[in-house]
Amino acid sequence: MGNGVGLACFLLNYGLVFIGFSDTPSDGILSSGNLSDKGYLKADPEIEPPVMVINTVLSLMAYDYPPHKLSVYLSDDAASDITFYALLEASTFAKQWLPFCRNFKVDPTSPSAYFKTIHSSTHPNAHANELLTIKKLYQDMESRIENAAKMGRVPKEVHSKHKGFSQWDSYSSRRDHDTILQILLHEKDSIAKDVDGNVMPLLVYLAREKRPQVAHNFKAGAMNSLIRVSSMISNGEIILNVDCDMYSNNSQSLRDALCFLMDEDKGHEIAYVQTPQCFENITKNDLYGGALRVVYEVDFHGLDSLGGPLYIGTGCFHRREILCGRKLSHRYKKDWNEYKNIGDMKEASLDEREEQSKALASCTFEKNTLWGKEMGLLYGCSLEDVMTGLSIKCRGWKSVFYNPQKRAFLGVAPNTLPQALVQHKRWSEGCFQILLSKHSPAWYAYGFISPGLQMAYCYYNLWVFLSWPTLYYCIIPSLYLLKGIPLFPQMSSPWFIPFAYVILGDSSYCLMEFLWSGGTIKGWWNELRIWLYKRTSSYVFAFVDTILKCFGFQESSFVVSAKVAEEEVSQRYEKEIMEFGNPSPMLTLLATLALLNLFCLLGMFFKQVFINEEGLRIFDAMGLQVLLSGVLVLINLPVYQGLFLRKDEGRLPNSVAAKSTALALAACAVFISLS
Ligand SMILES: *[C@@H]1O[C@H](CO)[C@@H](O)[C@H](O)[C@H]1NC(C)=O
Ligand SMILES: *[C@@H]1O[C@H](CO)[C@@H](O)[C@H](O)[C@H]1NC(C)=O
Ligand SMILES: *[C@@H]1O[C@H](CO)[C@@H](O)[C@H](O)[C@H]1NC(C)=O
Repeated sequence: MGNGVGLACFLLNYGLVFIGFSDTPSDGILSSGNLSDKGYLKADPEIEPPVMVINTVLSLMAYDYPPHKLSVYLSDDAASDITFYALLEASTFAKQWLPFCRNFKVDPTSPSAYFKTIHSSTHPNAHANELLTIKKLYQDMESRIENAAKMGRVPKEVHSKHKGFSQWDSYSSRRDHDTILQILLHEKDSIAKDVDGNVMPLLVYLAREKRPQVAHNFKAGAMNSLIRVSSMISNGEIILNVDCDMYSNNSQSLRDALCFLMDEDKGHEIAYVQTPQCFENITKNDLYGGALRVVYEVDFHGLDSLGGPLYIGTGCFHRREILCGRKLSHRYKKDWNEYKNIGDMKEASLDEREEQSKALASCTFEKNTLWGKEMGLLYGCSLEDVMTGLSIKCRGWKSVFYNPQKRAFLGVAPNTLPQALVQHKRWSEGCFQILLSKHSPAWYAYGFISPGLQMAYCYYNLWVFLSWPTLYYCIIPSLYLLKGIPLFPQMSSPWFIPFAYVILGDSSYCLMEFLWSGGTIKGWWNELRIWLYKRTSSYVFAFVDTILKCFGFQESSFVVSAKVAEEEVSQRYEKEIMEFGNPSPMLTLLATLALLNLFCLLGMFFKQVFINEEGLRIFDAMGLQVLLSGVLVLINLPVYQGLFLRKDEGRLPNSVAAKSTALALAACAVFISLS
């Protein structure tokens, strides 16, 4: 690959942990003019986001790639001087870390992940001394950053030494400040070298201008600012975008991904290369179904044959031009040698470029331009990335799914039930918005993408509608069971056979698919539970919220407040004990459904055995209803434990227990009395 293609890595950081999970925050609150931090958790120095961020930065800077062609941009949407300070520390540390990675073929290149792997496998080899030195350096840096985060301010001596901090003088809040832009490492036009004398990648800190009265468009807005600013500073052909809670676990993945884009036969029609979103924090049986195994191991490979996977917003390699709106043309052939090195771009010095590009990140720059409409990431949807991917496909491009055995990027999965449910709510809501938007795969995409791909997009976009049949099957058959009215054919009837076929066929197929994707049987059972929970809570609320929003009502917001003791939560997560957290309407709904099924099943048994004395004849007449309720009760066992048996902090709150018991009993009583 000769010299390598210019590459800009974009890191998107919110500096705030959104419900414990640093994913794109989606909120109706910020845009409605209330500037309180509702819906967010303030970055907790204990959860150490700045350290997480710099680990991501370092892991990307240390890619096995010509460093003069690599630039790393950090978009800090919280505009926190602590994050800037952490980045400054990281840039100094990188001078030792990059040569270390190169000399000892270190992988993963994120220091904290690397030191963990070393810890587990004793390395009695030649580089023990260097390892100790660099580990010490890292730990010192880590503790300095953690201290600063704990105190909430940057040490005085650093503050006065680096001119970058002066940009915070006019800062009034994270939603009201000027553009803060700083090129690190390459100062005053001297190209920075590491301790071995090699050029270092460019490192840029950006906090785009924000004003309370101007919509900032969340992640899409941040990406678009980065696209413009980077075009002025390094203008790499390829853009990799990564969320700050992920790090590179495979320093070769970059070269592999470029192979798809540079392929002589097919490369010219590929717009982006998507890697799966993988997690380091998945326990053996994946209690919250966070790994999305079947999606990444089965669905996305299927999509690949239909024109390529969705753009999921992280771990994705884009061509800059296409992201900026270029249409497919058959004469398109990239000349990969056009790109100039950082050192070659002498027309304007780095300092000048830094000054010039500030204007590109101002919040009024996009006024009356096509940014957000046809250029860059599209605005107006909480899943801007999926929508952007679709519009790229509609312009004729293809994408590729790249799923290496050794994961390209690893992130952190949600480790409590409310986090998982809120995440699914956001996804399903975004998907539904795309269906209703003017880029809807159902009609807009017709004729632009293959019917197969259109159906595949719709499969995700129609998620919210699955809530209604699921709710029906969770409620009605059980209530009729309690009343003694059969709804399905009896077991001795031939009409029972199609039901049995569908049930057996579907569950064995799903089980096989899950095991084939590397899951365990217990993991499948857990996945089934989450499948049920997201349909009976996340999707319901997503549906209702979207409809309410269409009519101009305020969105309900789910505030998952601070987790009790982080340590205990982690311990329960490791032991795969479900963490329910604080009261919320979602939990009440889940608990009510679980109790309803329990009451119906118990009530039915009681009636049959003690009152009717019919004994087991019921199983023939209403076998399927008994089976359905029975499975629902079995799958809800963790909820009953959480309601009545557990004593720890992660149990279901008493208020939820009281509300759901009352609701479930009332539903049973009302239904029985209606005759
Ligand atoms: C913003 O929200 C907070 C709490 O949610 C509330 O106390 C405050 O009055 C609100 N401010 C405005 C301007 O609506
Ligand atoms: C993720 O897992 C690692 C080890 O598996 C653990 O040290 C860390 O605390 C976990 N993080 C969270 C947020 O659960
Ligand atoms: C991450 O990288 C390490 C070291 O190369 C490797 O052993 C591990 O399998 C990788 N993890 C995943 C999930 O691929």
